[in-house]
Amino acid sequence: MSERALAGATWPKGFIWGSATAAAQVEGAAHEGGKEDSIWDAFARVSGAVHGGDNLEIADDHYHRMPSDVRLMRELGLDSYRFSTSWARVRPGDRAVNPDGLDFYSRLVDELLESGILPWLTLYHWDLPQTLEETGGWANRDTAFRFRDYAEDVYEALGDRVTHWTTFNEPFCSSLLGYASGVHAPGRQEPRAAVAAVHHQHLAHGLAVNTLRTLGAQNLGITLNLTNAIPRDAEDPVDLDAARRLDSLANRIFLEPLLLGIYPEDTLADLEPYGLGDIILPGDLETISAPIDFLGVNHYHDDLVSGHPDSAVGDSHSGGAERPTGSPWVGSEHITFPSRDLPRTAMDWEVNPDGLRALLVRLGAEYPALPPLYITENGAAYDDVVSADGTVHDTERTAFIRDHLASVAEAIEQGADVRGYFVWSLLDNFEWSYGYDKRFGIVRVDYDTLERTIKDSGLAYARLIQAAHSA
Ligand code: NOJ
Repeated sequence: MSERALAGATWPKGFIWGSATAAAQVEGAAHEGGKEDSIWDAFARVSGAVHGGDNLEIADDHYHRMPSDVRLMRELGLDSYRFSTSWARVRPGDRAVNPDGLDFYSRLVDELLESGILPWLTLYHWDLPQTLEETGGWANRDTAFRFRDYAEDVYEALGDRVTHWTTFNEPFCSSLLGYASGVHAPGRQEPRAAVAAVHHQHLAHGLAVNTLRTLGAQNLGITLNLTNAIPRDAEDPVDLDAARRLDSLANRIFLEPLLLGIYPEDTLADLEPYGLGDIILPGDLETISAPIDFLGVNHYHDDLVSGHPDSAVGDSHSGGAERPTGSPWVGSEHITFPSRDLPRTAMDWEVNPDGLRALLVRLGAEYPALPPLYITENGAAYDDVVSADGTVHDTERTAFIRDHLASVAEAIEQGADVRGYFVWSLLDNFEWSYGYDKRFGIVRVDYDTLERTIKDSGLAYARLIQAAHSA
């Protein structure tokens, strides 16, 4: 679909056009204003854990440049900015509240509101205080209760102005990638701990939802990264079972406890040897399935999957680290990811916009009581080239965003209740174990000067927002 045709599309009334970042990826000031180590600060010091030995000390220096970054958002015409608060800044060492840490977010929220931009706050985007990792991290049930207390502190400071609250971002990554494959912080390769982390993050979500609801929050949700698990050969029982297992570990292990208050039977059976049944205590699933007001969907690519060992071409969840890593597919390490004939981004992720449509439509069909959906992340990394005049003609990213938005429009036509879209990311930033090597921004960041330049994709996105607003 051309930009012109997309600009003519009609969007539901009040559709939110936004862009997203996360604290650890953009803020920098990693040890300023009272902030102490998060697990990512510590992980970045492990040799070979992050590409090129990059760290989070300066990142995009958003901590110091926040007012001008908000001006950029205004220039782009964003309705909403999705950001996260850093637990290690708000409660360094998870001891007491740090007023300077909360003040940073309070100023950010004020700046956004003064610019007419809706703050969309995520409480956990992967940066657990390192002190809590030292007492077991997410494998320790107590961490869920510590999260509830932190959520309450943030709500008490910002709940008078922030209306949209997300508990967790992509718990798949902060549990299975962090504790089983070890490609993400804290870098553990302990399948049992990973399974415990899944359940304890669910519990933390439910505890926070109940607490914030009692305090008056009205728009509460969670963001999941979901995929379409497509069997390489839909007639082959081995491939079909691999797709089932991937769907279990990437999608249903999150969707079903949260939305239905149950773990899928096949997931329970597959993870029985890893102790899932043992850590679910009476009442947990009721807490976990506390009603939510929206579901955030992050989608970048689908997964073609096989159960045959010869079809491996690499796992799109394997990360860019240079040290040996395990598999996030607990109990199903033999799952492989064949390639299909599709273009790929710089992450080596396939480009298939129709996958987003299929996912959104499927969610509505499979979960009748599904709350409204927001695409809380979608975007692409490409190796940008800066022209002599400083501009960035990122045609592939521009097309990626346009084609995925067309796909969202199609999903809405087919009945999906999608109410907003956030491009990942506003700024080039710290791409976890890939360090600064992969750029997702619609705004370029020059890591030598920290200067920002709106890329062509940002300009095109701004035009689309303007067209949608004036339709
Ligand atoms: C999802 C994560 O939420 C975000 O932090 C990350 O940078 C993007 N995917 C791209 O990998």
